[in-house]
Amino acid sequence: MCEVKHPNVSVVVPTYNERDNIEELITRIDRALSSAKIPYEVVVVDDNSPDGTAEVASRLSTRYPVKVIKRPGKLGLSSAVIEGVRNSAADAIAVMDADLQHPPELIPRLYQRLAQGGCDIVVASRYVRGGEVRGWSVFRRLVSRAATMLARVLVPQARKVNDPLSGYFMFKKDAIGRLNHINPRGFKILLEILAKGRYRRVCEEPYSFGLRVRGSSKLSSKVMWDFVVQTLNLSPDYLKFAIVGASGTLVNLGVVALCRYVLGLLHEVASALGIEVSVINNFVLNDLWTFRSRRMGPWPLRLAKFHLSTLASILVQYATSIVAFHYVIHESVISQFLGIVAGFIVNYTVSRRFVWR
Ligand code: GDD
Ligand code: MN
Repeated sequence: MCEVKHPNVSVVVPTYNERDNIEELITRIDRALSSAKIPYEVVVVDDNSPDGTAEVASRLSTRYPVKVIKRPGKLGLSSAVIEGVRNSAADAIAVMDADLQHPPELIPRLYQRLAQGGCDIVVASRYVRGGEVRGWSVFRRLVSRAATMLARVLVPQARKVNDPLSGYFMFKKDAIGRLNHINPRGFKILLEILAKGRYRRVCEEPYSFGLRVRGSSKLSSKVMWDFVVQTLNLSPDYLKFAIVGASGTLVNLGVVALCRYVLGLLHEVASALGIEVSVINNFVLNDLWTFRSRRMGPWPLRLAKFHLSTLASILVQYATSIVAFHYVIHESVISQFLGIVAGFIVNYTVSRRFVWR
């Protein structure tokens, strides 16, 4: 291999079936970094692409400083990036796609901003002034914007960045934090680094994200689903708790509707069942997810404590629902909803006055 002893930049490139792109990519990386006089290496992480990407990359490594890491099968984009970082020699690591949607000519600029100090992570950004996406349909743009918004709502660390889902970025090796804390599943490795890394400042550098010319995208519905799960898992406990609470509200109203309009039970019974099922729903989800790592003692004890902690709220909820049904609205689901609102207010007030005053 044509080796560089002390590269300043390691360019990590995950590949899956990118045979027709890899040569132009590496040639352009070389041209950009050589003319900027930045010693570099490219770390290609290939998941045993059936199209022979790894073989093409290995051939290129006689001419350019390219390491090729071959993995046995398609293990996913994020885990490929982690593997690439593990095998990188430089202190500045760039991550980019192989399909030329990320222009290699930007790398020197990203490196310059990192080397000047001040930035620990530099994100190549579609969504700052001067950045753009070319050739996407309105629908595709909308999906990207919605995903970006979801990430920024659920992951507070992503709010500092306009394009936290970018697949093109550079960082100082220490900024990534402990590699084994990074979730290897999924596509959005930058989001993981933003949420779990150790860094001070994130900067953004605009670029133009073009259309893929050769090969095909690996973005599938599974990837989108993984993204939602990944983002939910990166959210802080208070947001998880609120999401669980919202799910409990839906469960509660659903049970009331079922009991009244399908089973024909009394409102008093339907309301009580709705409340209890939602309390159990919230307990199970918080126990398995929100506070999973904080569980202690036997679960029946936790379940009892959870009931106790919401007792005042439950009683007010039930009373409000019954009163609303008999004297105000005469409709079960709406009455139950008013009960839930009252219960929430009580829970909030009690917590504020007596627990965190
Ligand atoms: N090793 C490996 N294993 N590489 C993979 C895998 C995998 O399972 N899946 C995808 N890749 C490689 C592709 O070969 C390509 O180089 C890169 O990862 C991105 O895959 P694309 O299929 O081109 O993704 P995209 O264009 O839809 O999405 C990209 O751009 C988005 C916007 O910047 C990704 O970088 C996204 O993370 C990013 O949000
Ligand atoms: Mn792509």
